[in-house]
Amino acid sequence: MKNMKKALSVLLAVMLLTGTFALAGCGESKEENKKAEESIKIGIIQMVEHPSLDTIREACIAKLETLGYVEGENLEIDYQNGQGDATNLKTISQQFVANGYDLIIAITTPAAQAVVGETSEIPIVFAACTDPIAAGLVENLGMPGGNVTGTSDAVSAEQIMELGLQLTPGIKTIGALYNAGETNSVSVIDDLKEYAAANGMTVVDATVTASSEVQTAVTALVGKVDAVFSPIDNTVASAMPVVAKVAKEAKLPVYVSADSMVNDGGLATYGINYTILGEETANMVAEVLSGTNPGDIPVMTMTDMNVYINQETADALGIIISEELKAKATFLPVAE
Ligand code: TRP
Repeated sequence: MKNMKKALSVLLAVMLLTGTFALAGCGESKEENKKAEESIKIGIIQMVEHPSLDTIREACIAKLETLGYVEGENLEIDYQNGQGDATNLKTISQQFVANGYDLIIAITTPAAQAVVGETSEIPIVFAACTDPIAAGLVENLGMPGGNVTGTSDAVSAEQIMELGLQLTPGIKTIGALYNAGETNSVSVIDDLKEYAAANGMTVVDATVTASSEVQTAVTALVGKVDAVFSPIDNTVASAMPVVAKVAKEAKLPVYVSADSMVNDGGLATYGINYTILGEETANMVAEVLSGTNPGDIPVMTMTDMNVYINQETADALGIIISEELKAKATFLPVAE
């Protein structure tokens, strides 16, 4: 008891000496300034807003919070969306660098390419870049070097098409719907073309440069192909409901590369879980913030692949799903 009293009076003296009381009485502005000074400042650059990218960003921010980085407390986030435009991505990257942020999170390949082009100093953690080497983000996945690391959502065109052949056997001609300006897409399409050539199938390209062109491009494939394939393409993902509508009317199966594209009406995919990818990205961000060089952290490729099928689309196309496939598939869309 006596010791406790002593301890309390020592504490009181220390508080008085260090001015803790004085500070508490000083009003909020000083406190807030102090908070701002101590906060870590992060820029998040995202190419465009579509459901998968929003999932990644939200999962990443939520995970950061559990790791002790709480937005509004010790973390400031400047989130900017490039609205699908390369010029915007460059401007945002330049601003982030000029602001001298502590770290930049780049969601999508085009966003990561833009920001990597602007700084070799500020740590960059990219999220969901399908082929980081082809995109010129890193030279080596195991040892990225420099100021860059991140997560990859690489998928296999072959596995997706094999799923496609189970659902709609007899595919001979595949329409490849993608933006040739997205390296992430080109790399998957290259695999698709190799697979098709080895299996006696033909690929017909239907490329777009903006979401506004997607409807025309998919309509042009109707009657010419047995199925449509779209890689992890941000431009197509942004217009996926339109693709689904055209394809449904034409009874054309559309195989995609991400669960969100199935949720938006694509028939099926064999892909990764983007919530987990967002969380893994946050783990890397925390590692960098605690002092590890980004270049010393291997790029993480997600390996938890799942079959996703859109039940409504399958029904509209009259597809009967085998029991074997049913047992392992996740059916979308999920009821709200
Ligand atoms: N992998 C894409 C890229 O490298 C980004 C992405 C993540 C994406 N999830 C997606 C694209 C879903 C389309 C659909 O840029």
